[in-house]
Amino acid sequence: MKKGNLVKKGYDEIGSNYMEYRDLFSNLPELEIVLKHLPEKGNVLDAGCGTGLPIAKFFVEKGFSVTGIDISETMIELAKVNVPEAKFFRSDMSKLDFPELSFDCITAIYSMFHVPKEKHSSVLENFYRMLKPAGILFFCLGTHSGDSYGDDFIGVEMFWSNYSPEKSLSLVKETGFLVLFDEILEKGDELHYWIIAQK
Ligand SMILES: C[S@@+](CC[C@H](N)C(=O)[O-])C[C@H]1O[C@@H](n2cnc3c(N)ncnc32)[C@H](O)[C@@H]1O
Repeated sequence: MKKGNLVKKGYDEIGSNYMEYRDLFSNLPELEIVLKHLPEKGNVLDAGCGTGLPIAKFFVEKGFSVTGIDISETMIELAKVNVPEAKFFRSDMSKLDFPELSFDCITAIYSMFHVPKEKHSSVLENFYRMLKPAGILFFCLGTHSGDSYGDDFIGVEMFWSNYSPEKSLSLVKETGFLVLFDEILEKGDELHYWIIAQK
């Protein structure tokens, strides 16, 4: 099975069970940093939005107009119920074609590491294209370079793909972003590499 299909199938099966696991992780401190760099109102794209909780909901509650996309139909249906104020579409973050300068902020939280790392550069370039000037990209990746498969991620098979934090940081810079924040943080007993960058 193709890697993307495996990821989609996995999240279609996990569905709402994901929230029990997700509740262990808080992103509020980093979201507060992001907010400081955004206009009071604007457009946010949540790429790999999952159930819409907590990220899409956070921005809706702050008064932003939010669009969420996810590769999993199940996740999109859950997100529509959880955050009715936002717009949600099924789409692959490596194939997005929103017009350029569409968004003040793009988030990809615990999602971009499901895209094969060879595509990370083009995903970043496309995010850059879709952001308005001074727009903010907030995302995270894994901390170890390589591709990995798990056969029991919340009960399903899963695929992850990352470069090292050093290499990911240089891709972000090469894309043209100014890096505002980058740190390896431990949340819910897991380490991830977090980046907040500005166009
Ligand atoms: C670990 S969940 C994170 C969900 C949400 N961002 C959060 O913070 O809880 C990863 C999500 O990314 C989605 N995803 C994985 N690969 C994707 C892709 N290529 N395009 C869009 N969504 C993708 C999955 O379907 C899943 O909903």
